[in-house]
Amino acid sequence: MTTAERLVIGRPEIADGIELHRIAAASQVLDVNTRYAYVLWCRDFAATSAVARRGDNVVGFVTGYRRPERPDVLFVWQVAVDAAARGGGVAGRMLDDLIARLPDVTAVETTVTDDNAASRALFAAFAARHGAQIERTELFGNDVLGGQHAPEILHRISPIDRGMMQR
Ligand SMILES: CC(C)(COP(=O)(O)OP(=O)(O)OC[C@H]1O[C@@H](n2cnc3c(N)ncnc32)[C@H](O)[C@@H]1OP(=O)(O)O)[C@@H](O)C(=O)NCCC(=O)NCCS
Repeated sequence: MTTAERLVIGRPEIADGIELHRIAAASQVLDVNTRYAYVLWCRDFAATSAVARRGDNVVGFVTGYRRPERPDVLFVWQVAVDAAARGGGVAGRMLDDLIARLPDVTAVETTVTDDNAASRALFAAFAARHGAQIERTELFGNDVLGGQHAPEILHRISPIDRGMMQR
């Protein structure tokens, strides 16, 4: 693989699940789910998730789902990019691809821990590109999360301006 290979972004396939697990584990930041969970995710939530590939290699992923009681709200669960591919806009492009594939989505929700500068910058830049504001509230404190987990701060990004990407 060379970084000169074109980046291709799209829906994950079942065979990508194992790569999502690898990238999540290598990040040393994310809560790592089981291999089975990522494979199942790639089967059942492919429409609301994205992978970035260079050649045959998956170099990044976004897992997301529509909130069952608010299907116009996309909850982005995890985003990760291989360390060697970071800083080149891969994560931003995956989010943009996803939102373009889901034209009825009006808001994006995600949680970001305060100490994750890259993640904060990623979602701030995404909101700016889509003309949206970010509202921050605590989603789950560490009392709910069992004491060993930093609070999850909800970032609600809305409204998504559909005209902006075409301007
Ligand atoms: C967060 C992460 C997915 C970003 O991926 P990436 O492909 O490097 O992000 P991008 O290149 O698209 O950058 C997005 C924005 O963040 C900024 N950014 C990227 N890395 C940064 C860093 N370490 N510190 C500050 N800002 C950073 C970029 O400048 C860009 O902002 P801009 O568009 O205003 O220039 C990646 O750092 C990662 O995988 N981290 C480990 C896993 C993680 O923390 N995931 C998020 C929590 S779910």
